[in-house]
Amino acid sequence: CRTRHYTFNIVQQNVTRLCNTKSVISVNGKFPGPRLVAREGDQVLVRVVNHVKNNVSIHWHGIRQLRTGWADGPAYITQCPIQTGQTYTYNFTVTGQRGTLFYHAHISWLRATLHGPIIILPRRNESYPFKKPYKEVPIIFGEWWNVDPEAVINQALQTGNGPNVSDAYTINGFPGPLYNCSSKGNSSDTFKLKVKPGKTYMLRLINAAMNDELFFSIANHSLTIVEADAVYVKPFVTRVVLITPGQTTNVLLKTKSHYPNATFLMAARPYFTGQGTFDNSTVAGFLEYEHPSNHISNTKKKVLRPNLPPINATGFVFNFTKKFRSLNNPKYMANVPQTVDKQFYFTVGLGTSPCPQNATCQGPNGTKFAAAVNNVSFALPTTALLQAYFFKNSNGVYTTDFPTNPPNPFNYTGTPPNNTRVSNGTHLVVLPFNTSVELVLQDTSILGAESHPLHLHGYNFFVVGQGFGNYDPNKDPANFNLVDPVERNTIGVPAGGWVAIRFLADNPGVWFMHCHFEVHMSWGLRMAWIVLDGPLTSQKLPPPPSDLPKC
Ligand code: C2O
Repeated sequence: CRTRHYTFNIVQQNVTRLCNTKSVISVNGKFPGPRLVAREGDQVLVRVVNHVKNNVSIHWHGIRQLRTGWADGPAYITQCPIQTGQTYTYNFTVTGQRGTLFYHAHISWLRATLHGPIIILPRRNESYPFKKPYKEVPIIFGEWWNVDPEAVINQALQTGNGPNVSDAYTINGFPGPLYNCSSKGNSSDTFKLKVKPGKTYMLRLINAAMNDELFFSIANHSLTIVEADAVYVKPFVTRVVLITPGQTTNVLLKTKSHYPNATFLMAARPYFTGQGTFDNSTVAGFLEYEHPSNHISNTKKKVLRPNLPPINATGFVFNFTKKFRSLNNPKYMANVPQTVDKQFYFTVGLGTSPCPQNATCQGPNGTKFAAAVNNVSFALPTTALLQAYFFKNSNGVYTTDFPTNPPNPFNYTGTPPNNTRVSNGTHLVVLPFNTSVELVLQDTSILGAESHPLHLHGYNFFVVGQGFGNYDPNKDPANFNLVDPVERNTIGVPAGGWVAIRFLADNPGVWFMHCHFEVHMSWGLRMAWIVLDGPLTSQKLPPPPSDLPKC
């Protein structure tokens, strides 16, 4: 094991997409950001220097941060933001994980342009549980706005309206040929993957889009899924991958054995069942077979397109999600909690709050859109929760009375209740060290059934069950999978359904949990857990590093 040093300079950078140039917030002037590569067991030090006028913080999405909660990154949860001119060094060790994750800004909507891949290789003397691929290629999905995404969310929050949708989805930063921005076309706007025949490529898929789950497919090729959220899974073959914001998936792509006389589109477009306006456009890139002495230029070859499911293909999503199984091999995974100390039932979904004065709100009956867990729309404090907890300054910052069950009117799917109003507050749940937790997440459907990609910081969890309609505590647990459930950090709560997860609270600190749709997170679909120290030194959160930013 070794120590890897990175410096991330946060700087403005001019980027041209869709024939439109704008200055974006980036890592080292790159969009998407540079790769962060480490082996399992390595220590990683990332020195982040803020050269822009915005406050920033960076989250290492999916990194377990065992006893290094100070390096997790969500602003006002584990740290105060890094202010203009300040530096903070994130210091963590990659423990028991291998595969693909990603990093992203975790403050306001800065992650739209500030994100990049985290590639975790196996230890030096270890190999993959599948044949070593010929090449590995990160594929990051994103969303592009021609305007500043900060203006989009700020305007939405001030007026109570839904935010303007993005202008394009992107693959590795490029919108691709199905978007038109000029009569000349713009070939620099397209991602191209150049391959050789008869080889296996590993695509490290990352959904860094802000507000959309995406279907992804490559024309005339199938994909073998081998890993999810930096945990190996039982391989399975699929034509289409569904990936939610916050999820990462490694897939093997076996190329054709001979040079085909065609170019293949790889394309992604959203899965969406909610109401209101959304971006239903398609991002595409090219899969090109490059013959060393090819006389037919790629532009003359016919272009084949993949078939993607319809936008509201909830059935496909449900079945696809169920196919993920862990390897059930102790070498590669934690133990599935067989017993439960504490059960929670959380509803997740949209609701309303009063319209601000002088605003015209688009929510039901002129209210403002909000989102909540157990009807609580989580208010971010003005200081960081982890500091307040560690230094015992919680007075006026947070309370520990987060409801373990929802209030009645929100406890179902079906006809919306008359009262859709959420409450506001900074309420947390306290878990003693090593509590075995079972959490059922239920979509409320109050303003339309919609899938919510729920992400938990500081942990992987096991997805032990899922279903449509209301969760039935008397019937559904009988069908839980406690043998080979998939272990991950982000799971879509099915539209009009529920999902049950289990995790062992063995990582002390304050841990955020939220919908990875940025708009829902901004509306309050977020909460936090406090996990107490255990009795041994190795079970306690150490004090913060001296350069931890102050509010
Ligand atoms: Cu990738 Cu708190 O998020």
